Amino acid sequence: MPVSSFAPTALLVTGGAGFIGSNFINRFIPLNPGCRVVNLDALTYAGNLKNLTAVEKNPAYRFVKGNIGDSSLVAAILAEEKIDAVIHFAAESHVDRSISGPEIFVRTNVLGTQILLEESRKHWQSGQVSEFRYYQISTDEVYGSLGETGYFTEETPLAPNSPYSASKTGADLLVRAYNETFGMPTIISRCSNNYGPYHFPEKLIPLLIANIIAKKPLPVYGDGKNVRDWLHVKDHAAAIECILKGAMPGSVYNIGGNNEWKNIDIVNLVCDLLDVRLGLKPGDNRKLITFVKDRPGHDRRYAIDASRLKAELVWSPAYTFETGIAETIDWYLANQEWVADVTSGSYLDYYQKQYGGKA
Ligand code: NAD
Ligand code: DAU
Repeated sequence: MPVSSFAPTALLVTGGAGFIGSNFINRFIPLNPGCRVVNLDALTYAGNLKNLTAVEKNPAYRFVKGNIGDSSLVAAILAEEKIDAVIHFAAESHVDRSISGPEIFVRTNVLGTQILLEESRKHWQSGQVSEFRYYQISTDEVYGSLGETGYFTEETPLAPNSPYSASKTGADLLVRAYNETFGMPTIISRCSNNYGPYHFPEKLIPLLIANIIAKKPLPVYGDGKNVRDWLHVKDHAAAIECILKGAMPGSVYNIGGNNEWKNIDIVNLVCDLLDVRLGLKPGDNRKLITFVKDRPGHDRRYAIDASRLKAELVWSPAYTFETGIAETIDWYLANQEWVADVTSGSYLDYYQKQYGGKA
């Protein structure tokens, strides 16, 4: 596929106070001084403005607390900021929560995306900006589950298995429809499991680190042999910037770093790395491992083929897993206050102090 050369001047990032969105903004602003960034985030339990202290005073950055489902708010931001690119991270993102309460997943991930698409369409068609991109941040989970072999390519049929992945698939199909029906310049990327700083400790890797520090059990679902393909969040952020600028409208890119691990092997690795850092005896942390009932509909294996992205847009991951996981563990050890804040919910007070309203 040919490539594009797009230089955004005003970006609307949704969900920029979450894990991947904040890592993206913290990278993008210093590297792109000519581009303004507006972060629209509802500050759900997963959104934390402390992730963005590095950019909060930067004149190129503006935070707006609000919901992607608020069409008049979205329309006002698009018009007043002359937004020429929307990157849509905002979502309910945790599979386990989608099993116990799927409704908010449909509301945010499907309906919220449709509202954002519709306001983006009106703004793009109003001709206020000369070029425009709508960029949907999707997931490899839309492809369903793999057996022992094979990889997800961009042509793999969509076959989601959880309410979370079904809602993300619904959003992807709406994005596709806006491109096909209205010719709207959309892009979709689908990434594998991320890890790194600011990852909410309900997800496997930060949960393991937090529980080891607190000497709590380490829950391993089922037989622990499900496979995930891990990518450092900063490599994902770099890939998103590369795709935003280089992808042709209507294109889809997979993002991944060929880094498959069985869950139990990741659990053992994190235990062992923390034995050393906490001055424990080899094997001490592994005693915390507790096999628990499996997640219903638990996808067995994910593995991404990112060769299209590597060939066409010349992206490759900068982190090896060895350096990335060691750096991540050290980040969590150095930022235990952040973990305590997000697990207690007290970080929501920070909004009031910074912005004078209620989070
Ligand atoms: P996250 O849960 O850490 O953050 C989500 C953010 O969206 C939070 O800041 C939250 O406050 C905000 N948000 C939620 N509902 C909102 C609404 N209605 N209006 C405005 N803001 C709202 O999620 P994440 O892990 O950073 O994931 C970001 C995106 O990347 C998601 O779309 C997710 O599906 C996708 N993704 C995640 C991974 C991963 O490994 N975490 C991998 C591939 C794709
Ligand atoms: O693949 C991309 C997806 O990765 C993203 O779209 C999701 O937003 C993101 O949450 C992540 O989904 P997973 O379900 O793969 O991530 P999670 O960290 O919840 O689980 C990783 C694996 O570890 C999975 O096989 C389930 C298992 N697990 C998870 C938890 C929280 C456990 O064994 N024990 C646990 O306590």
